[in-house]
Amino acid sequence: MAHREAGGGGSPFGGSDSTEIGPIVVPASELARRVRELGAEITEDYRDRAPLLVSVLKGAFVFASDLSRAIRLPVEMDFMAISSYGMATKSSGVVRIVKDLDQDLTGRHVLVVEDIVDSGLTLSYLRRSLLARNPASLEVCALLVKDGQQRIPLDLRYVGFHVPADFVVGYGLDVQERYRNLPDLRVFLGEGS
Ligand code: IMP
Repeated sequence: MAHREAGGGGSPFGGSDSTEIGPIVVPASELARRVRELGAEITEDYRDRAPLLVSVLKGAFVFASDLSRAIRLPVEMDFMAISSYGMATKSSGVVRIVKDLDQDLTGRHVLVVEDIVDSGLTLSYLRRSLLARNPASLEVCALLVKDGQQRIPLDLRYVGFHVPADFVVGYGLDVQERYRNLPDLRVFLGEGS
C-alpha cells in the first residue's frame, strides 16, 4: 500500500539539505484520506465508550492531532514520550520513558496512537507498561508499519499504511529532530539511513 512518486526527490524547503530528502512514500492527500477513514472506523467501534487517546511523542504528534479531529466522539488525550533510538536511525532495543502520562488508566478504554512500527520493540515495551496500569481495554492505531521488520508478533487494531523498510521522514517523523514539518511522508537518503 505504499505510494511512490517517480523521480520526486529534493526538499520542498530547498537549501543544502535537499539531497537528503528522497521520493514521496505517502503524499499528504493520501495521509489525509486514510486518517479520515481511520477516524470513521474508530468512531464506529468506540461509539459506546469514548477512548483515551495515548499519543507517543514526538513522532505521532501530527498524526494524533489529525486523527483526534477525525473522531466524532468526546475523546480525551494524553501524551507519553519514549526514546528508543537516541540519535541514530537503527533500533537499539533500548527503550525508556522520557515523559509519562498525566492520567490514571484504570478502567479506561485506551487507544495508543503510534507513528511507525519498525522492529516493534518500542510498542511491545509500551503495551506491557500500559497494560500494567489496568485499562478496561488497550488497542493500538499505528499510522505506518514497516514491512518485514518486526522481530516480535504485534497486535495492531488499526494500521494506516504498510511501507517499505526505508527510513522515512515527514508528517511528524524526524531524523535528529528535522523534517517533522514536511507535509508528505518521504524517504530519508542522508547519513545513517
Ligand atoms: P521500533 O521500536 O523499532 O518499532 O521503532 C519505533 C520507533 O522508532 C518509532 O516510534 C519512531 O520514533 C522510530 N522510527 C522507526 N522507524 C523510523 C523511520 O523510518 N523514521 C522516523 N522514525 C522512525
